[in-house]
Amino acid sequence: MAHCESSQSSRDEPCCRLSRRCRVCLGCGLLVLIVCAVVLLVALTRSPTRTREPLAWNGTGTTQNLFAIVLGRCYAYTQLLRPGLRSEDCPKILDAFKSAFISKNPCNITQQDYRPLVDLVNQTVPCNKSLFWSKSKELAHQYARVQGKMFTLEDTLLGYLADDLTWCGDPGSVEPNYQSCPHWNECLNHTGSVFWKVISKKFAESACGVVQVMLNGSLSKPFRKSSIFGNMELFNLDPRKVHTFQAWVMHDIGGNSSDSCSSPSLTELEAIVTERNITFTCQNNYRKVLGKMEPLVPDQDGATGP
Ligand SMILES: *[C@@H]1O[C@H](CO)[C@@H](O)[C@H](O)[C@H]1NC(C)=O
Ligand SMILES: *[C@@H]1O[C@H](CO)[C@@H](O)[C@H](O)[C@H]1NC(C)=O
Ligand SMILES: *[C@@H]1O[C@H](CO)[C@@H](O)[C@H](O)[C@H]1NC(C)=O
Ligand SMILES: *[C@@H]1O[C@H](CO)[C@@H](O)[C@H](O)[C@H]1NC(C)=O
Ligand SMILES: *[C@@H]1O[C@H](CO)[C@@H](O)[C@H](O)[C@H]1NC(C)=O
Ligand SMILES: *[C@@H]1O[C@H](CO)[C@@H](O)[C@H](O)[C@H]1NC(C)=O
Ligand SMILES: *[C@@H]1O[C@H](CO)[C@@H](O)[C@H](O)[C@H]1NC(C)=O
Ligand SMILES: *[C@@H]1O[C@H](CO)[C@@H](O)[C@H](O)[C@H]1NC(C)=O
Repeated sequence: MAHCESSQSSRDEPCCRLSRRCRVCLGCGLLVLIVCAVVLLVALTRSPTRTREPLAWNGTGTTQNLFAIVLGRCYAYTQLLRPGLRSEDCPKILDAFKSAFISKNPCNITQQDYRPLVDLVNQTVPCNKSLFWSKSKELAHQYARVQGKMFTLEDTLLGYLADDLTWCGDPGSVEPNYQSCPHWNECLNHTGSVFWKVISKKFAESACGVVQVMLNGSLSKPFRKSSIFGNMELFNLDPRKVHTFQAWVMHDIGGNSSDSCSSPSLTELEAIVTERNITFTCQNNYRKVLGKMEPLVPDQDGATGP
């Protein structure tokens, strides 16, 4: 009995000591577990990027190497193309561009989002040198380039930075969405459409003297009120600064030449312009444009021959 008791008590003692140690160990373990859980929770809520897929849209995703392209174009433009803007701060411009859309829903962008970027660059286009276009981008750009001193929107710094690029962000990420971005008709106020609206408005507001617009005579309606030109640029021309408005309606080379200037679409444009007290003129296939373009049209004398 005594042996038993003593054995029990002697077995009890190390047992209790063990269990006390166990309790301490368990407590420590629990503490570690709680700390781990908290750390994990903080990590999860701080960067949901790694666990959540970006929102899916119907348009193509952000252009690869977007930021490198924008920064490179900024330096090329301000240091080489237009040295008058040499003092522009390209890294600052890139930061303002990023902040406009990074971590935001790309269908919920406001003009305010681009305000800091637009206010960084106050480029003035000389009077008589603004060239607007609608559905004739290539020809307008070629003409502006050959002419040298004409400016389309894409010949201004902001237009130049973004020409032909696609970009958008995602609410759950600090990275651009490289997989997809909203299609033009997917929502009204998306990253790209708001950008082009904001900068084309500013471009139109700054125009002065004689302004030119190049329209596409191959279309049944060369002028459409819903285009960026008809919607943003035309109504932001300042009649106190712009006295004459010249429309050039271009037809495809070899296509039917018709008198687009007297078509209903151009008559509508004329009415809008004259009502705003700006003198309107219209020319079909403006000769100077085509003449200037001649070297760029494929040579018919067999330039490909050996
Ligand atoms: C869109 O943005 C506005 C202001 O930034 C915000 O109040 C609104 O909740 C946003 N809507 C969506 C659907 O994200
Ligand atoms: C550009 O113009 C805006 C509005 O007139 C002004 O707020 C901004 O400070 C100007 N930015 C620079 C860099 O001059
Ligand atoms: C702009 O064109 C008008 C008419 O062609 C001319 O009178 C004016 O001097 C021009 N202005 C500049 C700055 O070239
Ligand atoms: C006019 O539009 C047609 C069809 O979109 C296009 O093929 C043509 O190149 C355009 N013309 C000009 C001068 O841009
Ligand atoms: C996106 O594309 C899908 C499949 O083509 C289509 O069913 C859906 O309506 C599109 N969404 C929008 C908003 O255009
Ligand atoms: C788009 O933006 C315009 C102007 O900023 C605003 O009036 C309009 O309500 C917006 N539309 C949508 C669908 O968010
Ligand atoms: C040119 O006009 C004629 C007659 O109006 C028409 O039959 C033909 O399809 C047109 N061609 C082109 C290239 O538009
Ligand atoms: C156009 O000019 C006329 C006469 O100078 C003036 O009465 C009218 O208010 C002007 N219209 C606009 C839209 O500026």
